[in-house]
Amino acid sequence: MSATIPQQFTGYAAMDEAHGKKYEVESWSYTPQKWHEDLIDIKIDVSGVCGSCLHTMSNGWPRPTEYPAICGHEIIGTVVRAGSNTKHAVGDRVGVGAQAGSCLECDYCKQGLEQHCRKMQGTYQGIWEDGSVAQGGYADFTRVKGQLAVKIPENLENEPTAPLMCAGVTVYSPLKRFQAGPGKKVGVVGIGGLGHLALQIAKAMGAETYALSHSSSKIDDAEKLGVKRENFIVAKDAEATVKQWSNTFDIILITAPSENLPLDSLYFPLMRNMGAVILCALPETKLPPFFAHALVGKSLTLAGSLIGGTSELAELFDLAAKHDIKAWVETRPMSQATQTLQDMDAGKARYRYVLSNTKKD
Ligand SMILES: NC(=O)c1ccc[n+]([C@@H]2O[C@H](COP(=O)([O-])OP(=O)(O)OC[C@H]3O[C@@H](n4cnc5c(N)ncnc54)[C@H](OP(=O)(O)O)[C@@H]3O)[C@@H](O)[C@H]2O)c1
Ligand SMILES: [Zn+2]
Ligand SMILES: [Zn+2]
Repeated sequence: MSATIPQQFTGYAAMDEAHGKKYEVESWSYTPQKWHEDLIDIKIDVSGVCGSCLHTMSNGWPRPTEYPAICGHEIIGTVVRAGSNTKHAVGDRVGVGAQAGSCLECDYCKQGLEQHCRKMQGTYQGIWEDGSVAQGGYADFTRVKGQLAVKIPENLENEPTAPLMCAGVTVYSPLKRFQAGPGKKVGVVGIGGLGHLALQIAKAMGAETYALSHSSSKIDDAEKLGVKRENFIVAKDAEATVKQWSNTFDIILITAPSENLPLDSLYFPLMRNMGAVILCALPETKLPPFFAHALVGKSLTLAGSLIGGTSELAELFDLAAKHDIKAWVETRPMSQATQTLQDMDAGKARYRYVLSNTKKD
């Protein structure tokens, strides 16, 4: 093993639920999963801060969080050790998204849709073959399955590209599957990390884009993201919004993790017949019930969509290079992880925080 790779990796972890609920992290070292030749070690340069990191740290989701928990799954770094069963070499610049392992053999894996593999391993909170809990990107190094790491094209810079690894591919995947394109009207609910990339991606695909936000504060930014000013909708009052915009959208992509998502009172009425309401957000409460008529009456599809795989990432990189799709980022030193997570929770991100090991205090 190269002398530069430590036996233990060190990152910023929520040590228990009490601290996780306040998004407080502290430096913590752990022993990575046992080495084998399907793996690579990555020296991490940057890691984006995803909304899923907040849900995980605060133990907000149905599956309890295993503490200590190092989050971060929008990772870009350099390969420092490459197993012989991987396609990587020491020195490669690679990215890892929300999945760091899969079986590599099933139909989904063969198509580069590893997020659907039954053996998909979360980049953090996944359980490796040796029983250890996977730890994420707010750290100096990570050890992952080589096949799940993708080479970053030379023309794409670290900071604005890291959020494509989760946020970007998470919205690209359903926009492609539900055929966002010319003649289609796409409404994006929640203009955050996922949402601001969804607006850029849907526009690049040729669709007409609309932003549905809970206040008017992001209207100027939305315009820069390609949304006509008259297509910016402050969707606070469902009744008034439906009155103005009913039967408008072919696709609504929900990225806001709100409690009591107004599906039958707002989003379904806004849809054209046969349209698709797609949930990317993962709220911490159950969805409210609704009568089947609200969905059936317009032959709507209500869909969920889970991240994206390596083949979709490759397509997204091409689209990003062609249409100059970039995450809007604020880069901060990794040591400012606690403040950054708290700022993210307070809704201050415009539109993605990226934690960096190279940017110093
Ligand atoms: N499906 C997947 O595979 C997948 C992958 C990644 C993330 N996610 C989930 O997607 C969601 C968004 O992640 P993100 O990283 O984009 O988060 P984010 O940057 O915080 O953006 C969420 C946006 O939603 C709106 N919002 C936030 N909280 C809200 C609330 N309580 N009520 C109403 N609106 C709210 C805000 O936009 P406005 O100011 O415009 O209203 C906010 O900017 C999270 O639940 C995350 O876990 C899912
Ligand atoms: Zn994510
Ligand atoms: Zn598989």
